[in-house]
Amino acid sequence: MMRWLWNAGLALVLLILAVLTWALQRDPARPGYQFIPEMVYSVPYDAYAQNLNFSDGKTLRTPVEGTIPRGMLPLHYEKSDADAKRAGEELKNPFSPDSSQVADRGARLYRTFCQPCHGETGMGDGAVTKYGFPPPPAFVSPNIVAMKDGQMFHTITYGKGNMPSLASQIGRDDRWMIILSVRALQERAAKLAARPSGK
Ligand code: HEC
Repeated sequence: MMRWLWNAGLALVLLILAVLTWALQRDPARPGYQFIPEMVYSVPYDAYAQNLNFSDGKTLRTPVEGTIPRGMLPLHYEKSDADAKRAGEELKNPFSPDSSQVADRGARLYRTFCQPCHGETGMGDGAVTKYGFPPPPAFVSPNIVAMKDGQMFHTITYGKGNMPSLASQIGRDDRWMIILSVRALQERAAKLAARPSGK
């Protein structure tokens, strides 16, 4: 008798729980109460949201044909020796070493980005060469002294041989300033070499 009563009671509880589970199930499409909803939904259109103000319904507009985004001037060169030479003829360094600000920045960036390989004075004896990296040529070698700024810009931008492209790490203006610091190292080396004692 007792047992029958227990089973009936448990069955009733199970039934109540099943009904409650079904009746109180959450609708995932219906969010709960939102406090300050402006924080969740931004006022401007999202880049990929539908936009009825345009006939194609897209928010993200394609740039007008033939336009160039600010600061994204294209460079029309390939990674080749011929194009490196052409860059030497066509590109001019927009900065002057007479500005101490330019010279300081160029020297600082040289220490960060070039010195590990090319060395403090540009002799091609940077720290990495002590650990097996093939040493780069010294900046005082005649072909680099004669090399135009534009060709050096091409080397930094596209890389050459074992030297990687540094374009993604160094902006264009900074590349030109670094080239001035390479020139300063070359002049310094030439002055030192011209001394009778060689010191
Ligand atoms: C990872 C090491 C490495 C870094 C960093 C590096 N270089 Fe070089 N660089 C080399 C090597 C190696 C060569 C020789 C490439 C060859 O001719 O095969 C070279 C060559 C050059 C040349 C001669 C290019 C030519 O056409 O003969 C110049 C100029 C030069 N580097 C300037 C720079 C400047 C400026 C920086 C810093 C912005 C820099 N390098 C950063 C390794 C490096």
